[in-house]
Amino acid sequence: MQSSTRPNDRQTAIFVSVAVGIFVAVVTTATFYWVYDLALGKERAAATIVAKAVWSPSDGAKVITAALPNTPTDGRLPWLGTNAWVTGVQAGQTWVTNNPNPVNVQVLVGMSSAQIWTYMQQYVAGGLGVSCQYCHDINNFSLDTFPQKVTARNMMYLASDLNTNFILKLPNWRGNYVQCATCHNSRPMGLEAFGTQFVNSVPPIKVTVDPLDATGKPITDPTKKPVAIQSKVKLQEAILYYIYNYQVWKPYDPAVEDSGRGSLALEYKGGRTQDQVTNNQNVMNYMGWSLGIGCNYCHNSRNFKAYETNPVSNVTNPIYAFNKRKAQQMLLMTSWIQANWTTYGAIAKPTIPTALEGGASSFSYQKINGQYYNVPGCFTCHQGYNNIDGISVPKAAMNQTSFMNLGDAGQIIFPQALRGVQ
Ligand code: HEC
Ligand code: HEC
Ligand code: HEC
Ligand code: HEC
Repeated sequence: MQSSTRPNDRQTAIFVSVAVGIFVAVVTTATFYWVYDLALGKERAAATIVAKAVWSPSDGAKVITAALPNTPTDGRLPWLGTNAWVTGVQAGQTWVTNNPNPVNVQVLVGMSSAQIWTYMQQYVAGGLGVSCQYCHDINNFSLDTFPQKVTARNMMYLASDLNTNFILKLPNWRGNYVQCATCHNSRPMGLEAFGTQFVNSVPPIKVTVDPLDATGKPITDPTKKPVAIQSKVKLQEAILYYIYNYQVWKPYDPAVEDSGRGSLALEYKGGRTQDQVTNNQNVMNYMGWSLGIGCNYCHNSRNFKAYETNPVSNVTNPIYAFNKRKAQQMLLMTSWIQANWTTYGAIAKPTIPTALEGGASSFSYQKINGQYYNVPGCFTCHQGYNNIDGISVPKAAMNQTSFMNLGDAGQIIFPQALRGVQ
């Protein structure tokens, strides 16, 4: 590697990384139309909507190069600023030249070092808004010296598991996957799970939470409830409880009218209390704020109970008819994320940070095994983002049309290992 103090080397490195970005963008766009037609069944093609103004890797590169250099105290080199970016990318090039095949790769198996370098630059560094040094000893990219790299590897399993277990199973899936940027949006920490709009909208009252038993009946005897909800809790805690402990009482079956009920439903045998109505309504508000949409994005407003499969109602757009079921799947996903969060390596904090990074509210932090973790909610991915077509798909989701069957280019952009298994 040549000295990074020589300006023309820096310019070369910037040029190369920009050129790779432009090349991938051009190849992607140019091949999009014919590959799209070849690779997708007509039905799915008709359902696929490419979000407008989506996140792009160049947003991440800009975050890094526009920042002032930082001064780490834990042995890592600075990972912000133009010099950090250029030095990291160059060191990566040198590593790739010397090691055409990767040395210590556990998730991105089957990719060449050059492919990994491109993916890292655009979607990992870009996805988190940090340069290589945040995770790597840039003299040896195969070492696992820093905890951030180990976390990043676990988060690769997270993306893969979310896509496998939830996203690919959505009814009428539109072809968008979860990737690093879907949650991180070019930030490593301080991700907001709830959003200011919502946080400000919750009244300061206390409510009773009645979870469900195996037959779908509310549990009203406090001694039979989980400790955290045995007595009245703040409304905000109650909402968190449902987002992270959602239960489906009777799975959806189009042939059974009373099916699809979960722990938020108000109307089924036994009836519910006023507090349950309050809890239900505030969770609904939370989902609305998170997705930037109103109630009838998911509901037929003449029948809130129904799980519409056909646009027979005032659900104005036929494709919205799936959304209540999609939302139910997503509630199961946030509950699953919370239950498994510590296995994905997010770095715990001894207390809720007082200076909340990136503006995250204390709502975003959950106490698990005595330590505080920032746990994703609907807002982490959706960000109140509702695109021009009125479709609420996260702006930093990876759309299949960017990489489907593009051969090597496709593998570089979104590794098979992260797509999940259908
Ligand atoms: C957020 C953390 C993170 C950042 C930032 C990051 N990487 Fe990585 N990188 C990883 C992880 C994790 C692996 C191992 C993946 C696996 O096990 O499949 C890896 C693997 C690699 C490898 C393969 C090393 C080997 O074992 O042969 C290369 C090369 C690489 N990264 C280059 C880069 C470059 C260049 C940058 C900056 C443009 C970068 N990475 C930024 C987390 C990161
Ligand atoms: C489901 C949402 C989600 C996805 C997907 C996701 N992350 Fe994370 N990640 C988080 C949250 C939340 C945190 C904790 C942030 C905090 O502590 O404020 C985190 C923390 C991290 C950290 C530790 C940051 C630190 O220094 O404390 C790294 C590194 C990381 N993620 C890398 C990745 C990589 C690489 C990917 C893609 C392979 C990825 N993440 C995908 C939500 C996600
Ligand atoms: C993102 C989709 C989504 C949005 C937006 C949404 N809801 Fe819901 N709603 C659901 C889901 C899913 C359920 C089923 C919950 C269950 O069964 O546990 C539900 C259940 C309900 C119920 C209970 C119906 C029953 O089965 O007893 C009512 C009432 C309700 N919502 C009202 C609203 C109102 C009012 C709004 C607007 C403020 C709203 N919802 C916004 C998805 C949504
Ligand atoms: C880890 C990221 C992530 C989280 C967390 C998340 N979503 Fe999503 N959501 C997605 C992705 C990706 C899609 C697009 C999937 C597709 O292409 O069909 C999506 C799509 C949806 C849709 C369908 C939109 C449409 O028009 O097809 C609804 C409704 C939805 N999410 C509701 C929610 C709710 C409610 C929550 C919280 C309980 C939530 N999501 C949490 C990633 C996420």
